[in-house]
Amino acid sequence: PEGFLEVITGPMFAGKTSELIKRIERQIFAKRKAALFKPSIDNRYSEDKVVAHNGLSYEAFVVPTTEEGVRKIYQKTKEEGFEVIGIDEVQFFPISIVETLNKLADEGVYVIASGLNLDFKGDPFEVTKELLVRADNIVYLTAICTVCGREATRTQRLINGKPAPRDSPRILVGGREAYEARCRRHHIVP
Ligand code: TMP
Ligand code: MG
Repeated sequence: PEGFLEVITGPMFAGKTSELIKRIERQIFAKRKAALFKPSIDNRYSEDKVVAHNGLSYEAFVVPTTEEGVRKIYQKTKEEGFEVIGIDEVQFFPISIVETLNKLADEGVYVIASGLNLDFKGDPFEVTKELLVRADNIVYLTAICTVCGREATRTQRLINGKPAPRDSPRILVGGREAYEARCRRHHIVP
């Protein structure tokens, strides 16, 4: 079996989820057994679908962002004999998902994990970081800076239109009302 660990990463509004869906669909066209998983924390657009900011959506298994959720991903993949699995918003899962996904790849599964590399402060999400160094392939996507139109590699969090302070909580589920893609120069953390 050809196990493979692929990580799709970058800031928000870079097209990570669309890229994940596209890669899963290509496998389904090729008649391979494929499935998508997403954390239950992310209910922005749908309870049981992975939905990109552009509206593209795909059915998914919803799992909690707990050790139990990580176990479910492993069990379901084994039970159903999935050859390809995609995990969206991988940064929300506990760190144990790194070992689990790496193991699945070792056991022959083509694993595609999509998630943020950096939080709103520009600090790495540990899970994504640990997956990136183990990846067989990295798909690094960028967005467009909402201020200058240059390449955006950071995500700006906005509270009432103003940059969120460093002490604001790390996890805040949201979309365009709370976040913008920014370049390094226009990324502000007061
Ligand atoms: P996206 O990568 O599909 O655009 O979704 C990222 C999600 O992560 C979105 O719900 C906002 C959330 N988020 C945080 O919780 N903390 C952060 O620091 C950032 C940048 C995003
Ligand atoms: Mg997404």
